[in-house]
Amino acid sequence: MLELKNVRKEYLTPGSDEKTSVLEDVSLSVERRETVAVVGPSGSGKSTLLNIAGALDRPTAGEVYLDGEDISIGEEDRLAGIRNRRIGFIFQHHHLLPQCTVMENVIVPSLVCSDRAIRRDAEHRAAELLHTVGLSQYKLHRPGQISGGQRQRVALVRALINRPALLLADEPTGSLDNETSNKVLELLLALNEREDVALVMVSHAESVSSCADKVYRLSGGRLVEESRSASHNHG
Ligand SMILES: Nc1ncnc2c1ncn2[C@@H]1O[C@H](COP(=O)(O)OP(=O)(O)OP(=O)(O)O)[C@@H](O)[C@H]1O
Ligand SMILES: [Mg+2]
Repeated sequence: MLELKNVRKEYLTPGSDEKTSVLEDVSLSVERRETVAVVGPSGSGKSTLLNIAGALDRPTAGEVYLDGEDISIGEEDRLAGIRNRRIGFIFQHHHLLPQCTVMENVIVPSLVCSDRAIRRDAEHRAAELLHTVGLSQYKLHRPGQISGGQRQRVALVRALINRPALLLADEPTGSLDNETSNKVLELLLALNEREDVALVMVSHAESVSSCADKVYRLSGGRLVEESRSASHNHG
């Protein structure tokens, strides 16, 4: 359902005319309901890759297909519509609206959703998802009044509100303690199964890669699948 073909990404180096190539030649294919982890050191291009997979950024060369539709090119309006309707994004820095309550934060994407049924059902679905992630008591809190792990879970609910086909998570457990991080991971996997979404996570956390169906390593601008026997075998 998600396919990256020979994606290349160059950035203009600030302060010079030179270009730095972050992604050299990246190809990746993700099936519905599949869980994929991309690992790699800081600065290796994980967020860049995820942004391109989510049509938030455009590749310098190559193509990105979501259910056969090229999302690496085209009008920003069309891409924004696809992002809103089909892709859920959990950002490395969660980007919650500080002045809005938890409930308001998670239904924001539904307000501009083209699907009327989703708009109508948003508050009900939000309440249900907030319950699933253990935040029923926090609907009226603001992001500044909840913990980091709770904010991460709010971001997760927001990413799922429009019933996306693809969920992209950038360091979903970043800055969380082990216990909370495991809880968030379990939730992601449970929702991946229950909501029938494809899940792509990027992280340098071992706990994230050990629970994915496939693990890829980003190194020198290329993506290489790690053999499961060589990595961990947590089942
Ligand atoms: N807009 C930009 N302009 C120039 N260079 C950029 C830009 N965005 C990212 N880069 C560069 O691309 C490289 C990869 O950045 P990216 O954020 O994708 O790394 P990452 O693997 O997500 O790292 P981390 O694990 O620290 O989050 C970095 O060297 C960064 O400086
Ligand atoms: Mg990053």
